[in-house]
Amino acid sequence: MTKDGVNGTAVEMIEGIKNEGFQEEAAENHGGQGEPNTSSLVLSPNREESAYTQIKPYAGMPKEVLLLYSNQVRYRLPRELLFWLTIVSTVGLVALTSAVIAMSPRCLGWWQSSAVYQIYPRSFKDSNNDGIGDLKGIEEKLEHFEYLNIKAVWISPFYKSPMKDFGYDVEDFRDIDPLFGTMQDFENLLASMHSKGLKMIMDYIPNHSSDKHRWFQLSRNRTRGYEDYYIWTDCTPPVPPNNWVSVFGNSSWTYDEVRDQCYLHQFLKGQPDLNFRNPRVREEMTDIIRFWLDKGVDGFRMDAVKHILEAQHLRDEPQVDPNQPPESVDSESDLYHDYTTSQLGLHDILRGWRVEMDKYSREPGRHRFMVTESYDYKEISKTMMYYGTPTVKESDFPFNFYLIDLPNRLSGDGAFDLVNLWMTNMPEGKWPNWVVGNHDKPRITTTAGTEYTRVINMLLLTLPGTPTTYYGEEIGMENVNVSESEIQDPFGKFNPNMSRDPQRSPMQWSAEENAGFSQNKTWLPIHPNYTTVNVESQKSDSGSVLEQYRALSFLRETELPLHRGWTCFVHRDADVFAFVREMDGFPVAFLVVLNFGGDALTDLSGVLELPDELKVRVGTSGREGTLLHKSKIDTKLGEGLVLEYSSNQRLHPGHGSSCFVSEKACYLSALDILYKC
Ligand code: NOJ
Repeated sequence: MTKDGVNGTAVEMIEGIKNEGFQEEAAENHGGQGEPNTSSLVLSPNREESAYTQIKPYAGMPKEVLLLYSNQVRYRLPRELLFWLTIVSTVGLVALTSAVIAMSPRCLGWWQSSAVYQIYPRSFKDSNNDGIGDLKGIEEKLEHFEYLNIKAVWISPFYKSPMKDFGYDVEDFRDIDPLFGTMQDFENLLASMHSKGLKMIMDYIPNHSSDKHRWFQLSRNRTRGYEDYYIWTDCTPPVPPNNWVSVFGNSSWTYDEVRDQCYLHQFLKGQPDLNFRNPRVREEMTDIIRFWLDKGVDGFRMDAVKHILEAQHLRDEPQVDPNQPPESVDSESDLYHDYTTSQLGLHDILRGWRVEMDKYSREPGRHRFMVTESYDYKEISKTMMYYGTPTVKESDFPFNFYLIDLPNRLSGDGAFDLVNLWMTNMPEGKWPNWVVGNHDKPRITTTAGTEYTRVINMLLLTLPGTPTTYYGEEIGMENVNVSESEIQDPFGKFNPNMSRDPQRSPMQWSAEENAGFSQNKTWLPIHPNYTTVNVESQKSDSGSVLEQYRALSFLRETELPLHRGWTCFVHRDADVFAFVREMDGFPVAFLVVLNFGGDALTDLSGVLELPDELKVRVGTSGREGTLLHKSKIDTKLGEGLVLEYSSNQRLHPGHGSSCFVSEKACYLSALDILYKC
């Protein structure tokens, strides 16, 4: 600061000051010595000290005075300290937040956190007593899902339909069939589900529509713009254009007199295949996805996706048995489906829908879920393609149907093989899932035997990933007998052995007439065991299939290692399949021992990481709390045990090839948090 500068400042100070103490001192300086002693105010540190201790800062002081104060150490120091503290803590907070974000494993989505429950709407609950289930009926029973701790419900189709394939033949993709209710009923159901924290997954059927659909009517009349909505080709009846056969049997071509051409149907003739090579069809079908997403549905189960495209050259498919007379080729298993399934371009279509669904998935907790249905038993790599790639998303998972085969391989080894097949083929980081039944396959309780019901449910609910439960599996419902003359299913009409009616019988709610499903004659017979196998009775029996299902469902949710930990296979033989669920840092781990054969004594003393004693947490035959030695784990035919133990030793570091995890996470008990590790 220059002397002039100081002078100038001093004068201005005097003019602008109302503080008396300050004025007095300034006057003294002027009067007493003739010359203003400018240095006394600013330049002498001591004088400066005393001047400023006498003059208190006051509101409205001029900037120049303020500046003089602000340079003082006692003001400057705390100010600078505060400034740097703010900077350091802001940077620290940002760094800490980024570190926490970077270190935190992803939260599980709603579709990963509980079983998905499949409802076949004709058979779940009839609210208007016409003998057929409906949407209001489902709404009446939502409490069942809360009871079972189920958060996601997939409802098989309820679109307007002539019901040739019970809803898989859609007449209007934007309307509800009156049999099931109205659009208002749908909206009420969705709102009720959401208010209870339940997610709704709809069936979406892209491959075909009903022949009653407006598009088909316009197309068969060659209405402009609609000519190519379906797959049409010239033919001379009764000779089909090629040897392609429908999944339900017989030629997949039907001659249409109106258009004087044949159309393709990979299912029933009432289910013509849409032409996905036509961009207008693709746009229409994407619009339908948007329509339901706008209404708020949470996801889609995509039907029969491998059939969406077929080869344009229409060449004959190769016969499985080249010596079979070509005129006798009439069923799906007679041909290799090189030209009617999994054609190039299929995954692009699905990925396009994923992109569309992602646009609706941006809010937290609003992920729109996609699961694809494709039976490719013998070519698991084809199934895995529906997972997408590390950079291009497709379905959240393709349905894993392999466990449906368990009854044909009922043993510890068989269970291991089927589980291992999926785990070793699944792309890294993807999420597994398990299905033991649906509306197309015989109920597993019947095919495996009722003595295995509980252990199968235990397998389903303790494996890593999302289990799917077909309605009734939670109480051990069995296939019902339907006489040949009463067959409803079109597939069953082609081949009674293939009828899907037995697994579609009405849900058994209680021991009341018609199992509490309806007060009227039901569309399919009810299983005669409904007086004991029903929800109400099993609720009051702590050892029932239902109560065990419920206990496992809650256990799966509450125990971190069970819903997102490692899975390590530790044992398999003719009877028993055993695996461990564990997580680094988590004090508790679980050994799951499942018996799919006969009575067995399993010795796991060779698994050094296991402690000697383990406690039964959940058992299929009520042994909860029992302590078992790892060298002598006894299980009976069909018995399952979830054994709990505490140990710091983890299996996965030493058993790499038998251990799997979708996304690594470790538990920090001191802070009760998960972190990436
Ligand atoms: C698969 C469905 O699950 C089945 O029930 C249906 O008949 C076919 N797709 C045709 O849509």
